Amino acid sequence: MAWTKVSADKMVRLLGDLPAGVAAYSGLAARVRRLVGEGRLTDEHQLPSERELARSLGASRTTVTRAYAELVDTGYAQARQGSGTVVRVPGNSRGALGGLVAVHDAAAGTIDLTCAAPAAVPQAHEAIARAGAQMPAQLRGSGYYPEGLPELRELVAARYSQRGLPTSADQVLVTSGALAGLAIVAQLLVSPGTRVLTEDPTYPNAIATLRGAHGRIVTHPMDADGWDLPTLESSLRRATPALAVLMPDFHNPTGALMDEPTRERLAAALARAGTTAVIDESSAELALDPAAQPLPRPFAVFAAAGQDVITVGSASKSLWGGFRIGWVRAPRAMLPALLRARTTRDLGSSVFDQLAVAHLLGDLGPALAERRAGLRRTRDALAGALRIDLPDWQATVPSGGLSLWCRLPRPYGPALVQAAEPAGVLLVAGGRFGAGGGLAGHLRLPFTVDASTAVEAVRRIATVDAQVRGGAGATRRDSAGQRSPLIA
Ligand SMILES: Cc1ncc(COP(=O)(O)O)c(C=O)c1O
Repeated sequence: MAWTKVSADKMVRLLGDLPAGVAAYSGLAARVRRLVGEGRLTDEHQLPSERELARSLGASRTTVTRAYAELVDTGYAQARQGSGTVVRVPGNSRGALGGLVAVHDAAAGTIDLTCAAPAAVPQAHEAIARAGAQMPAQLRGSGYYPEGLPELRELVAARYSQRGLPTSADQVLVTSGALAGLAIVAQLLVSPGTRVLTEDPTYPNAIATLRGAHGRIVTHPMDADGWDLPTLESSLRRATPALAVLMPDFHNPTGALMDEPTRERLAAALARAGTTAVIDESSAELALDPAAQPLPRPFAVFAAAGQDVITVGSASKSLWGGFRIGWVRAPRAMLPALLRARTTRDLGSSVFDQLAVAHLLGDLGPALAERRAGLRRTRDALAGALRIDLPDWQATVPSGGLSLWCRLPRPYGPALVQAAEPAGVLLVAGGRFGAGGGLAGHLRLPFTVDASTAVEAVRRIATVDAQVRGGAGATRRDSAGQRSPLIA
C-alpha cells in the first residue's frame, strides 16, 4: 500500500494548539487520535518523521517519539519498515470510514457537535442516590449478572409490552449499551463474508462493528424522506443478506421514522429473503411531535411466527449515555447463544448503573417528558437558525431523534468541517455516516446541546460556510420571512 505522507508543516496546522495541562507527548498523541476520530487522518496517511515534526512543532524529539509510541500502543499508528509511522484507524481495516464517532476533549468555548449524545436527564441525580442506597445489599453478593439484573430485565420487558410488543424478562439480555448489544449479535451471526444490509447513511460505529466482524456491507441509500420499500425489497431479493441492521425508529442520522404499513411489508420481505432483522432502537423513545402521528409499534410486532427479529435498545439517548446500559430483546430460543457470545466479551454490566437505570425506567414518564422537551426546543431553534443563516442548506425537520441531516448546496462538507474547527465548532463530515462512500454534501447537526448553543453554532458555521464557498453561491439572507427549503 502507498501512503500519503503528511508534511510536518501540514501536521502542525492540523494539530492546532496542543492541550495545556497534560504532558506534551500525551497532548500530541491525544490530538492525533482526535484527527483520526474526525476522519482527517486515515490509514492512508504516513505521519511526518519524528525529527521533522519535532522541528516544526518546536518540541523535543523525545516528545514526538513518546507520542508516536503511545499512538502505536493504543492502536492508532503502526511503525512500518521503510514507511516510518503510518496511521491506523482502530476497528477499520479498510480505512474508507475514516474513524469512529467518539466523544473527545473539546477546548473551552468550542461547541462540540460531533456526538448526538445529550446530558443526563435531571431525574438521574435521584436515581443515582437511590441506587447508591441499594448497593450495600448488593455488595454481599458476587455482583455478576450476565443476563442483567432481574428487576431491570423485567422493566425493559414491561416497556416493550407497553409499546405494543408483548415481552417477558427471559427475552431480554442487559448489555453495556446498544453498541455492545450489536457487537454481541454480530459476534453470533456475522462471520467473514456474511452479507449485512445497512441503511446508507447509518451510524458509523455500527459499520465499524460489522466490519470488525468481517461482514460484507450491502447498502440501502436513504434520506430523511425514509426508506424506498421497492428498492429495499429488491436488494433483499438480490443480495439475500443474512442480516439487515436497520433503524426504523428515528434513524440516525436522518431522523426518519418508518410507518407501520412499511414495517409490515418490510418484515415480510425479510422473511422471504431469510434475513434476520436487527433493529437498533436507540432513539425509539425520542418522539418529539407525538401528537402529530400515533407512534408506530416496535418493528418486531410485525414479524411472522418463527421469524427472527432481534431488537437492540439503550438508555443512552433517553436517559444518559454515561450509564452504559442497553439491552438486546430476542426470541427466547436465541437467548442462550446470545448469552454465550456476551460472556466472551464481558460478564455483565455494572450493577450500580443497572440499579440507577431501573429506577428511571420504573417511572419513565417525567424523565422522558424532560428529555423530549429539551430536544424539541433545540431542534426548533436549530432549524430556525438554519433558515435564517444558511437558507440554501436543506434539511427535513424530523419528528424525533437527535439530529438534523443537512444537504449542502455543493459537496464541500469536508472543507467546511475543517474550517469550522478554528471558528469554534467541531463537526463530523457526512461521509463518516456513509457505508458506501459519498455524502460529502451532507452534514449531521445534532440537537443535543442547549438551544442557544445550537443557534451560536449555526452562526459560526454560517461565517465559515461563506468563506469555504468563497462567496460564490453563498446566499446569506437575514430575513426570517424568506422562503426556505427547510421543510418542517
Ligand atoms: C443508532 C445508534 N446505535 C447505537 C448507539 C450507541 O449507543 P450506546 O451508548 O447505547 O452504546 C448510538 C449512539 O449514538 C446510536 O446512535
